[in-house]
Amino acid sequence: MKLEGKVAVVTGAASGFGEAIARSYAAEGAKVVVVDINDQLGPQVAEAVGGTYVHADVSKSADVKAMIDHAVKQHGRLDILVNNAGITHMNRPMLEVAEDEYDRIFDINVKGIYLAAIHAVPVMREQGGGVILNTASTAGLRPRPGLTWYNASKGAVITMTKSMAVELGPDKIRVNALCPVAGDTPLLQAFLGNNSREAFEATVPLGRLSTPEDVAKAALHLASDEADFITGMAYEIDGGRTI
Ligand SMILES: NC(=O)c1ccc[n+]([C@@H]2O[C@H](COP(=O)([O-])OP(=O)(O)OC[C@H]3O[C@@H](n4cnc5c(N)ncnc54)[C@H](O)[C@@H]3O)[C@@H](O)[C@H]2O)c1
Repeated sequence: MKLEGKVAVVTGAASGFGEAIARSYAAEGAKVVVVDINDQLGPQVAEAVGGTYVHADVSKSADVKAMIDHAVKQHGRLDILVNNAGITHMNRPMLEVAEDEYDRIFDINVKGIYLAAIHAVPVMREQGGGVILNTASTAGLRPRPGLTWYNASKGAVITMTKSMAVELGPDKIRVNALCPVAGDTPLLQAFLGNNSREAFEATVPLGRLSTPEDVAKAALHLASDEADFITGMAYEIDGGRTI
C-alpha cells in the first residue's frame, strides 16, 4: 500500500480525473476527503472510497477553510492535497468569451489554488511536510487556438506550482502539477468544440486521449514516497502530445 495511513483531500472528486484519483488513493490505503460542488455524485464517490464528502466551492475562502478543517478534525492531519477542481469555456474564438466566464475560470482554476495554499500550508508546515498536486493541463504548456483563457489559467497553475515548490521546499512540502492531454471526462466536449476527436487523437504520438486512470496513476506516484525527491514538475500525461 503506497499511501497507508495518509490523509488526502481531493477537490473536484465527484467525477472525471478527481474521482479516479480519489479511488486510487483509497485503494492504496489513504483516507480520502472527497470535495466538490456536485452534491449528487460527490457523496456517492465518498461512499465508494470509504471516505467523507465535503461540499466546498474552491473559489470561496470560507468553503476551502472548512474542507481543510474537516480533514484535520476528522483525521488529525493532512498529508496530500490535490487541487483538481477546474472548469473551461467552450472551445471558441477568444473574443467571444464573456468577462464573467473569464472571471469564473480564473476564480476556480487559479484563485482556488491560492485559497487552498492559504488554508493548507500552515497545517502541512506544522506537521513537518506534505504533498500538493495541482491539476494543470497540456493546455498550459502548448496552447492551441480556441481555449485561450483556459490555456492561460493552466499556464498560471504551472507557474504557481513551480514557485510554490521553491518556496515550500524548506518546509518539506512537495508541489507538482499534473498535465494531462484531453481526456474522456464530462469536460471533453467543451475542449473539442467543433474539432473531431479523431483529428485530435492523430496529434498524440501514442494515438489516443488520456483516461482518468492514466491521470490517477501519475497522481499516485507523485503523492507517494517513491517521488520524495520530485518537486516543481509539470508532469505530462499526454502520450507524447507536447513533444
Ligand atoms: N478532461 C480533460 O480533457 C482535461 C485535460 C487536462 C486537464 N483537465 C483538468 O482536469 C481537472 C478535472 O477535470 P475533469 O476533466 O475531470 O472534469 P470533470 O468535470 O469531470 O471534473 C471536474 C469536477 O470539478 C468540480 N468543480 C467545478 N467547479 C468547482 C468548484 N468551484 N469547487 C469545487 N468543485 C468544482 C465539478 O463539479 C466536477 O466534479 C480540471 O482542472 C481540468 O481543467 C482536464
